[in-house]
Amino acid sequence: MGGGNGTMTVEPFFGTEHLMDLSTKVAVVTGGARGIGHATCYALARNGIKAVAVVDQLEGVTAFTNQANEDCGRSVMIPFRGDVTDANFRRHVFAEMGNLYGPVSICVPAAGFTKDRLAVKIDKESGEADIYPQEDFDRVLAVDLTAPIYWAMETVASVARDRHGRGLGRWEPAERVQGAVVFIGSVSSAGNKGQVSYASAKAGLEGAQATLAAEAIFYGVRSAVIHPGFTDTAMVQSLGEDYVSKNILPQTQLRRLIKPEEIADAICFLIRNSAVSGQLWVDAGWHPKG
Ligand SMILES: NC(=O)c1ccc[n+]([C@@H]2O[C@H](COP(=O)([O-])OP(=O)(O)OC[C@H]3O[C@@H](n4cnc5c(N)ncnc54)[C@H](O)[C@@H]3O)[C@@H](O)[C@H]2O)c1
Repeated sequence: MGGGNGTMTVEPFFGTEHLMDLSTKVAVVTGGARGIGHATCYALARNGIKAVAVVDQLEGVTAFTNQANEDCGRSVMIPFRGDVTDANFRRHVFAEMGNLYGPVSICVPAAGFTKDRLAVKIDKESGEADIYPQEDFDRVLAVDLTAPIYWAMETVASVARDRHGRGLGRWEPAERVQGAVVFIGSVSSAGNKGQVSYASAKAGLEGAQATLAAEAIFYGVRSAVIHPGFTDTAMVQSLGEDYVSKNILPQTQLRRLIKPEEIADAICFLIRNSAVSGQLWVDAGWHPKG
């Protein structure tokens, strides 16, 4: 600790041995071509991940991975274009990654969208009550709730299958954590005007996370949910600059939108630090108001 010549040398409190070593891990990030998913792919690559499946319905997913691989100086990202609600597409991604790199054990199912509207509107002339359309509600739940849970369960399945194939049973802590799922919730999970479908989906992820946290540790897979506040992505930009500066920024402690890289950093923290479990709020001090 103390130097012999009267100077003080400060030794690090601990190294990085306690963190998950990503160099042997294979990940899937949905919604990876843009926004928070995009930043997460870069953050995983910077943290040395072996390979990341970048899943998105956008045509630009291939151009993004080409550019990212060039930036990273290695072929770490593999593009998959498709709809996350398509079960055959999902199975194809896991099979392909399994064949090329080994079982997928990290999952960040970030693909999502909003379809905002008041739950009930009254037509002032006719007096008719107009309820949020059920087909919109079903689609938001399919993309924002069911799909993330199925991509997560597919990840747990790929670890479970691999362990079974190697004759391994119940996971033991001495093996170190095998994998992790980080669901992307939202501050809206606590309720937000105009977001009856989105808030329901994001709140539902909490139940899935808590259940997988209890079940999937049998195979050594942890799970967590992160609740981002308003983040500077296409999803929030679509609200318009005026709306953001009048209605959102004044209610945040940082007086600015969160950067996708800040969320990605917190996602990597949740993946790599095995002592963290449950939920992390990354909201820049913004909370939904009643
Ligand atoms: N931006 C925010 O303020 C904020 C806050 C809280 C939570 N989130 C959540 O973070 C996640 C990422 O959002 P973002 O802000 O980066 O949005 P974004 O719109 O920039 O990115 C979402 C990505 O998901 C993809 N996607 C959407 N539906 C898909 C589908 N059916 N199949 C395949 N890909 C699909 C889109 O093509 C897009 O690339 C979402 O789950 C969102 O709900 C965002």
